[in-house]
Amino acid sequence: ADLKGLSTMATPARARYLVRATSARQATDALAWAEAQGLPVQVVGGGSNLVFCDDFPGLVLHMDLRGRHWESVVEDSAVLALAAGENWHRAVLYAAGAGYRGIENLALIPGTAGAAPVQNIGAYGVELADTLVSLDAWDRVEHKWLTLTNGDCRFGYRDSLFKQEPERYLILGIRLALSRTRPYRLGYGELAQWFADARPDSPMAVAEAVMTVRRRKLPDPGDLPNAGSFFKNPVVSEARWQQLEADWPGIVGYPAENGIKLAAGWLIDQCGWKGYRNHHVGVHHHQALVLVNHSAGTGADVLRLAERIRKDVLARYGVVLEMEPGVVPAQAGLPPLPAQS
Ligand code: EPU
Repeated sequence: ADLKGLSTMATPARARYLVRATSARQATDALAWAEAQGLPVQVVGGGSNLVFCDDFPGLVLHMDLRGRHWESVVEDSAVLALAAGENWHRAVLYAAGAGYRGIENLALIPGTAGAAPVQNIGAYGVELADTLVSLDAWDRVEHKWLTLTNGDCRFGYRDSLFKQEPERYLILGIRLALSRTRPYRLGYGELAQWFADARPDSPMAVAEAVMTVRRRKLPDPGDLPNAGSFFKNPVVSEARWQQLEADWPGIVGYPAENGIKLAAGWLIDQCGWKGYRNHHVGVHHHQALVLVNHSAGTGADVLRLAERIRKDVLARYGVVLEMEPGVVPAQAGLPPLPAQS
């Protein structure tokens, strides 16, 4: 089966088998079948955080379960339940449109609700982990249903249990705690500027501001195939940051839990990559952290470019960039670079 429509990077690849699951039962049946056949399985939601680099010799399981409902509504708070295949951005608009706050900063993030916990989607000062109450998952090793709480999910920056134990859990649906009165999160530079003079009068106003800000910089995968930020923003120690700041005036970094988070886009931009393009692939002209597929680029073309960028950033700043999207098949990923000093 052709996988092209299943990834926003639009690199060509085929799978030996493809199943589109619209119910939990279909999904677990497909997994059981693949297990009995001894086939590897790749789960796909919206395909917005994956790069297909080669044909997949097993089953691609496309999670397309739909459904959303309010699970509990108590005074100003409510829990919104979303099936794994629900489009994330539409869910944001739905919640914000109903007057509920909590995920409005995450407007326009491509992909599905079920994929959102895997990389702990985040933007403009908010992460999924800030609102996720729990999720339902199928344990592929123990063959049983589980409800995992927020704490069980081991969320970190673009990280979770599902990245740490990649073959283990199939996410079927998520629950989000929203509120009509929770304070807005407007601390992130561009949003703070937007609302400097007038506070937002609704969560939809925040979602709309986020949409405008994102559209200025980030390419719509429907117009120009991409997988969002191609690298994570690397975290360095305070000492290392001070050295970098002295050596490279203007370098951008923010305090993080365990050090300083560098803006990888700045590093790549400074190395001269912004707007670069070859016949097939390139670096977005407004945001150097986003690699784009201009015309029929393959996964190999994308990874070759990523590798050149990574080497340049390492040579100049001594900083190792870690790839953010997943690579399919996994072994086709970037080669390891020396550990960061
Ligand atoms: N910058 C440059 N040149 C560039 C790009 C960025 O100098 O080409 C500088 C900017 O001037 C800014 C800083 O780098 O001072 C940070 O840039 P930006 O605000 O665009 O955010 P980011 O750190 O590049 C992260 C997330 C995005 C998220 C935005 C907004 C990661 C890997 N990326 O990008 O998430 O939308 O913040 O919160 O953490 C994604 O994960 O796919 C994604 C798009």
